[in-house]
Amino acid sequence: MFKGLRQGLLGLLLSALSLSTTLAAADQVQTLKSPRDFAGISDKTERSRALFTEAGKVIQHPRCMNCHPKGDSPTQGLDLHPHLPHVVRGPDNHGATALQCNTCHQAQNFEASGVPGHPLWHVAPIEMAWQGQSLAQICEQIKDKKRNGGKSMKQLEDHMAKDSLVGWAWNPGIDISRQPREPAPGTQAQFGALIGEWISTGAACPV
Ligand code: HEC
Ligand code: HEC
Repeated sequence: MFKGLRQGLLGLLLSALSLSTTLAAADQVQTLKSPRDFAGISDKTERSRALFTEAGKVIQHPRCMNCHPKGDSPTQGLDLHPHLPHVVRGPDNHGATALQCNTCHQAQNFEASGVPGHPLWHVAPIEMAWQGQSLAQICEQIKDKKRNGGKSMKQLEDHMAKDSLVGWAWNPGIDISRQPREPAPGTQAQFGALIGEWISTGAACPV
């Protein structure tokens, strides 16, 4: 009888625990630190690295990674599973001639079907692939004009801070199972501020 009681209590404790973790997961708004939070790091290069690492919470978030795949096809969801149905980047990253991205992806999120949207919806070119790379490798790559679409550091900052396709990641709509997609951490403005400060501290990459 004593054993039964103990198991009962244990069960209660465990369900309380799992309930609180579920609540925590659902409630969790992923935040971003601001450049000010790094002011205490006196070494400029170290500060720069720390700023990029913080910005990496956005860069390596599935909302961004799904569109920056290493292979021929974008991925979906928080687990970066293969895109369903199977689609390919095609000759110009807008899909196969017979099945373009915008056949399904419209100018904005389509809540009724759960298909995300933007007027320029397409997959990032292969030289901008981020999946399968470390944050340090992504950092070197985005600074490299040969692999970042010829962007200067200023253009790179503007792209991150203002581009509306990048901005979709903070307004990702609901998915096909009617669940809200998890947005990238913080806001695009906060992300832009981190990138701006990373650049002005010398754009050092994590090691
Ligand atoms: C036949 C329709 C169809 C075509 C064509 C299509 N998609 Fe999708 N795509 C979908 C649907 C439906 C979803 C939503 C899946 C979900 O919510 O689980 C989706 C989701 C995505 C996502 C996931 C977003 C996220 O973060 O979870 C990406 C990225 C994506 N598509 C990129 C593309 C690209 C790039 C192309 C063209 C190469 C393309 N899609 C072509 C139907 C399509
Ligand atoms: C719907 C697909 C899609 C999503 C989502 C997406 N990107 Fe991209 N990204 C692209 C495409 C396409 C390009 C190439 C555009 C160009 O060259 O003008 C690109 C290019 C870039 C570049 C240029 C340089 C480089 O090396 O990659 C950066 C930086 C970038 N994206 C950042 C992000 C960030 C940060 C996020 C998430 C907050 C994000 N992207 C989400 C499709 C996407």
